[in-house]
Amino acid sequence: RLDVTETFHGITFPGHLHTQDSLHYATHFKFQDTDTLIVTYPKSGTTWMQEIVTVMSCKGDAVRAQTQPNWNRAPWLEQYYCPDVLNASQENRILTTHLPYNLLAAALSGSKAKVIYVARNPKDVAVSYYYFHKMAKFLPESGTFSEFLSAFLEGTVHYGSWFDHVKGWTNNARNIHNFLYVTYEEMSRTLRASLERVSEFLQCPLVEEELTSTLKSCSFSSMKKNCMVNYSLIPQEIMDHRKSKFMRKGKIGDWVNTFSEEQSCTFDAIYTSRMADSSLTFVWCN
Ligand code: PPS
Repeated sequence: RLDVTETFHGITFPGHLHTQDSLHYATHFKFQDTDTLIVTYPKSGTTWMQEIVTVMSCKGDAVRAQTQPNWNRAPWLEQYYCPDVLNASQENRILTTHLPYNLLAAALSGSKAKVIYVARNPKDVAVSYYYFHKMAKFLPESGTFSEFLSAFLEGTVHYGSWFDHVKGWTNNARNIHNFLYVTYEEMSRTLRASLERVSEFLQCPLVEEELTSTLKSCSFSSMKKNCMVNYSLIPQEIMDHRKSKFMRKGKIGDWVNTFSEEQSCTFDAIYTSRMADSSLTFVWCN
């Protein structure tokens, strides 16, 4: 069975990619000051930021992004293959994680590693995650959208609660030496400006031509075609691309096509109460 579950500190993870050892490795990770860590709740723009940071660090040259799968060039700390991949590339590492802040706080403490947190409208996250459950055979059966949404709101889906994740990282941003907060929506509306922000944060200046080629490589249409990020390299038994595509729609506000009016109202009420202690000033348009 592919859809086994690994539980760690009360949060469930796909057992296909995570073990107690790999989760322990992540939470005790030795960060280097030259590391860049991309942090996301699933379906919030992880792959997009992996592409941006890769191409940017190659000064707009897309060769690495076109020849090396994203999980190799920006491995997830908590996934079992991470130590093997990292042995091969020790300098200026690009790392990824879906772990909540409390599980990485100790490992990051005192580090000057650059942390980029990408957040997305949770309604779009829920829809994207629901469709991902249809294709990814290593995730549990999602049931109906209504059932999935209840689990999402309760935080019983894999990787835990969206609310705890976003609040954990953003409320503790001041404890992280180098922290950049970016939203999926901002990247979607003004990708050029987001790239400039990321490039400044990474201290990786780009000339106009390099910025333009990064922009081109990171568009939805380029990434949808790139087999190094669209997960078409993963066999059908693990990801069934007939059920849904990984690069599905790439839109903001698409949740309206899946949520009912009632589901949206329930979501808004829970959002308001769960985010009351959030330091975020940005409000997603409903
Ligand atoms: S994962 O499984 O957590 O790594 O998924 P993640 O990469 O975080 O999220 C997948 C969603 O991001 C969309 N995506 C993009 N949107 C716009 N532009 C670009 N370049 C882009 N790259 C990825 C992808 O289509 C998924 O969203 P949905 O809404 O399902 O289409």
